[in-house]
Amino acid sequence: MSGSTTRDEIRMAHKLGIIGLGYIGSEIINNLDQFIDKIELSAVFDIDKQKMEELAKEYPSVRLMTSITDFDDCDVVIEAAVQQVVINIFDKIVESKKIFIPMSIGAFITDDEIYSNYIALEKSQQQLIKFPSGAIGGFDAINSIKQIGIISAKLTTTKPPIVFKDQRFIKENKIVLSESERTKVFGGSAKEAAKAFPKSINVGARLALATLGPEKTGVEVYSDPTINKNIHEIEIQSEVGVYKFSFQNNPSPTNPKTSWLAALSIFDTFENRICVD
Ligand SMILES: NC(=O)c1ccc[n+]([C@@H]2O[C@H](COP(=O)([O-])OP(=O)(O)OC[C@H]3O[C@@H](n4cnc5c(N)ncnc54)[C@H](O)[C@@H]3O)[C@@H](O)[C@H]2O)c1
Repeated sequence: MSGSTTRDEIRMAHKLGIIGLGYIGSEIINNLDQFIDKIELSAVFDIDKQKMEELAKEYPSVRLMTSITDFDDCDVVIEAAVQQVVINIFDKIVESKKIFIPMSIGAFITDDEIYSNYIALEKSQQQLIKFPSGAIGGFDAINSIKQIGIISAKLTTTKPPIVFKDQRFIKENKIVLSESERTKVFGGSAKEAAKAFPKSINVGARLALATLGPEKTGVEVYSDPTINKNIHEIEIQSEVGVYKFSFQNNPSPTNPKTSWLAALSIFDTFENRICVD
């Protein structure tokens, strides 16, 4: 062999930082070995110090970040915490030109400043923000339809009452979650939905960002005691055609509030949008 180095030999693994060591963050870490040599866990942060300490015992080489913005040595940052984290790190993420994978996508449409700053970014910078498909999909078709124009986009989400039980919107509006029947608990825009259910309706935000935006994308939310799945139905009207997508997600084996698919969507993001030329 000559002394020349092939491109494969010099390609470095992406250095990954994860903010949020709950269900999704842990799932990512536990399954990262499938991206060996491509993605290397470098640094983590969680507001819960015990979760950081436990991780340090298992992964002594991983650096414990001192704050949510302590990610200078990472080139890919995943947020798997809460909307406020996205809001607080957005400016630094943009300035530092990191690849950013946010899970709490609702932040992009509930916070007007983030939304307008995101929309105003240059295309190359916007492309560094990789919204995972999360608990839904069909974005290949949606992106194609968008070239001609979308007339209406609506998400109908149905989840078991346990998902809504302790949520502030339900309590403040004194909504009774029936123990026998499907009940409508919300109807409005994707922006209002992401504000009302900051932990549960990220899919509305994901759909809004891909279609008509926070105010013109419709969302209806139902509580249904007869199901043990998180169901998302999307309907898009366009001159290109009418499109209906239905996702019947099983909850994750370890967190009944999160759809299993949501964590898996990160691996698709890694495979097809990060570990590519
Ligand atoms: N995009 C989607 O389709 C989709 C689907 C499911 C969940 N989500 C969102 O992803 C996020 C993570 O979901 P999860 O199921 O892993 O939640 P989780 O509750 O299991 O974990 C969240 C973790 O974030 C930590 N945390 C909370 N506030 C923090 C802060 N200010 N700074 C640092 N860490 C903080 C918590 O201690 C916890 O360990 C949530 O916002 C959830 O709504 C998005």
